Amino acid sequence: MHFTSLTRQPDDPLLKIIGQHAADPRPGKIDLGVGVFRDEEGRTPVMTAVKAAEARLLETQASKSYLGPDGDTGFVSALGRLVIGDAVSWDRAVGLQTPGGTGALRLSAELLARAGVARIWMGSPSWANHAPIFRQAGVEPHMIPCYDLTSQRFDLDGFLAGLNAATSGDAVLLHGCCHNPIGIDPDAAGWTAIADRIAQRALLPVVDLAYQGLGDGFDTDANGARAILAAVPDALLAYSCDKNFGLYRERTGALFATSADAETGGVVLSNLLALARANWSMPPDHGAAIVRVILEDDALTAEWRDELETMRQRLASLRAMLAEGGRIGTVDLGAVAHGKGMFATLPLSPTQVEWLRDRHAIYMAGSGRINIAGFNVAQVARFHDALRDMAVNGVA
Ligand code: LMR
Repeated sequence: MHFTSLTRQPDDPLLKIIGQHAADPRPGKIDLGVGVFRDEEGRTPVMTAVKAAEARLLETQASKSYLGPDGDTGFVSALGRLVIGDAVSWDRAVGLQTPGGTGALRLSAELLARAGVARIWMGSPSWANHAPIFRQAGVEPHMIPCYDLTSQRFDLDGFLAGLNAATSGDAVLLHGCCHNPIGIDPDAAGWTAIADRIAQRALLPVVDLAYQGLGDGFDTDANGARAILAAVPDALLAYSCDKNFGLYRERTGALFATSADAETGGVVLSNLLALARANWSMPPDHGAAIVRVILEDDALTAEWRDELETMRQRLASLRAMLAEGGRIGTVDLGAVAHGKGMFATLPLSPTQVEWLRDRHAIYMAGSGRINIAGFNVAQVARFHDALRDMAVNGVA
């Protein structure tokens, strides 16, 4: 009787594509749906540095006893120093391990709600889960349309103008690099302008950094986040190791908070720990332990960074091949060359997305977002052909 007031919720449209693609018997089907890295053979392999760290853990881990709501503190500090660098002095930063980047975002949202922050501004479109995560915690998302799909451009002026509607104390969400779902990031001058505007308007930035190393390179990809953190007294940085360590299902992430001084940082951390305890008590250990073993060992770190760089180069070369298709019908694939990382969103209608799936077994998000890692080299040409076929058939 207690559940009769509930209404059925729709399946998550992105996760649903995994099942639809798996059930499609057509050979040569292409899965450009959920954002996982794939190699040329379509596999999402466990990275060799990760395998080596796992073997070491198997040998040396003496206990599975609880750690605590902050998780693996060695992981948190090694990762934090690597990502934040010297953008802010480490005594102004605190951090804790979270179940994936999503856990870090959820904790951010609850901290904002607890601190009385009622609104968070974000460029639109954003990752489909961003708005629900904040709304569910009681922080209302406000969207600022600022991407042009036809030209594949980020409208910096439009975004800054949108922020003028934010009032002191509001939060603003930023994609640290490799924007999901568009793939277009601000350039260095753009990051400076955004950081200045956030500081002027006394907004609280929440940076979501989930693809570090898949854009311009591992260190360069943190520059935007670092510029933001350096510009303001308080900021949050939600970090995911899903993609750059290939740890997806291990749910490995962290949340870092910078504050004006160490004392405030301690208060912030105590609130984050209390919120974590009430949510998941303690985060899962295995993925974070793997990352710690890698980051504490120079040889493993070098191996991991080489593998990550190979992944980055594969994405960049697939993107260049895709862009070689040029203008096909209403889609200017050439413009996709402006982007970085795993994703691009093509200006396709839902009818066109469905047509490509039904006619050509090409699966992508309903928004027209494609995971570029989903292609192998031969499939890029097949994708060009499919778009030509769609144009010839006048599918709009
Ligand atoms: C994606 O956007 O495809 C990934 O971040 C996976 C997810 O959970 O949506």
